[in-house]
Amino acid sequence: MTNKVIINTDVSKGKINKNIYGHFAEHLGRCIYEGFWVGEDSHIENTNGIRNDVVEALKNINIPVLRWPGGCFADEYHWKDGVGPREDRKRMVNTHWGGVVENNHFGTHEFMMLCDMLGAEPYICGNVGSGTVQEMSEWVEYMTFDGESPMANWRNENGRKEPWSLTYFGVGNENWGCGGNMRPEFYADLYRQFQTYVRNYGDNKIYKIAGGANVDDYRWTEVLMREAAHLMDGLSLHYYVHPHGFWNKGSALDAREEEWFITMKKALHMDELISKHSTIMDKYDPDKRIGMIIDEWGTWFDVEPGTNPGFLYQQNTIRDALVAGLHFNIFHEHSDRVQMANIAQTVNVLQAMVLTEGEKMILTPTYHVFEMYKVHQDAEKLDLSIETDTYQLNDENLPSVSATASKDADGRIHLSLCNLNPSEESKVTVELRGISNVENIAGRVLTAEERNAHNTFDNPENVKPVAFDGYEVEGEQLTVTLPNMAVAVITIG
Ligand code: AHR
Repeated sequence: MTNKVIINTDVSKGKINKNIYGHFAEHLGRCIYEGFWVGEDSHIENTNGIRNDVVEALKNINIPVLRWPGGCFADEYHWKDGVGPREDRKRMVNTHWGGVVENNHFGTHEFMMLCDMLGAEPYICGNVGSGTVQEMSEWVEYMTFDGESPMANWRNENGRKEPWSLTYFGVGNENWGCGGNMRPEFYADLYRQFQTYVRNYGDNKIYKIAGGANVDDYRWTEVLMREAAHLMDGLSLHYYVHPHGFWNKGSALDAREEEWFITMKKALHMDELISKHSTIMDKYDPDKRIGMIIDEWGTWFDVEPGTNPGFLYQQNTIRDALVAGLHFNIFHEHSDRVQMANIAQTVNVLQAMVLTEGEKMILTPTYHVFEMYKVHQDAEKLDLSIETDTYQLNDENLPSVSATASKDADGRIHLSLCNLNPSEESKVTVELRGISNVENIAGRVLTAEERNAHNTFDNPENVKPVAFDGYEVEGEQLTVTLPNMAVAVITIG
């Protein structure tokens, strides 16, 4: 069977919030230290301590929003340890991630500087697990109060007179787990209490994000919505693709087709999770005022052999690229509720965009998907329906093709297609209703020969997008031949 996509090019289904292309960077392994921060005295080229190559690369994917400092680290982080002269900052142990020394050289000022350099909005995650209400309240005052106040004066002494603009603030992280092992009823009460003191100073309006559920913990969502919906702007959800569960993740470089299949299946599961959590949210918030904030997602494999198990360093292959493409297509489908998503994590940790080794840096297949898909940021999602063939392994089936389309501010249409099938190409007929003559088409595709194809420091461009002309046009119809295991973006107009 041929796969069939119908796009009603005049029917908008609402805006795709650019924050769906957000990121997450934690004090974990080599994400912050080495990945972003090398210090001013490093031989690696940097600007005020932040490495130039990584910033340059990331600017090209238009990171809209960056979540920091964790993750589990956030619930052990005391922000006051990370401001003031660096040489005086407290050295602590990063107990959650590898037991290594955290010298606090990267703190609030450095994070805000990084966001400025990237052109990203900051998303700060506060400490509910081991912090106090006062500490959280004073952090917000430190960052956003304009004028005379104890925290604003301290910020001034530390070299920053103007307050920063801060919109996104998370009240805790994974409070069902590393953030305090709480029951939802208990966290809901704490959320209500802590958020009271997350103040709006002057014109700075905070978008408050409550710590949400793990995977399919629907009771968590139910309780949080029931008890605290009126006090939140967003509710988070965390879901990772671990092929065989948390305790048996497998290697990022495993090339077996079984591993490929289960990974695609788990990536597609995101759709069911969003639908079911959304249904609960709809009960309490039918107008969809509250955003679903998927502030941790991505693949989580075993660490690369010989690396610190607490550093979560994994390679990244064409399989990860497909996982990224599928997630974006799903997020777009639910863009009426999903207002932000943050891939875990930007550099050197889990499904990273960029890997570094000393002064070397490579871009991953996932990076390329973010780069190709950036055309969808803030674009109008177009009405699309799809009938797809199946990709079968043993006695299980998955859809072989996934698609999404949007129209940008200049009226150009961007169609993104993923072929999940690692062995067979897929033919897709695309009916572009509302366009009589399809012209001015350009495409790019990311594909590979091997299921575990990836980039290395010796072969950094093994997987990268190339121009794509595997389509034919007839009137309003496009017939696309997608290579096996491919992510393609086609622009029309
Ligand atoms: O991203 C790695 C960890 O995964 C985060 O610290 C935590 O929130 C989640 O369990």
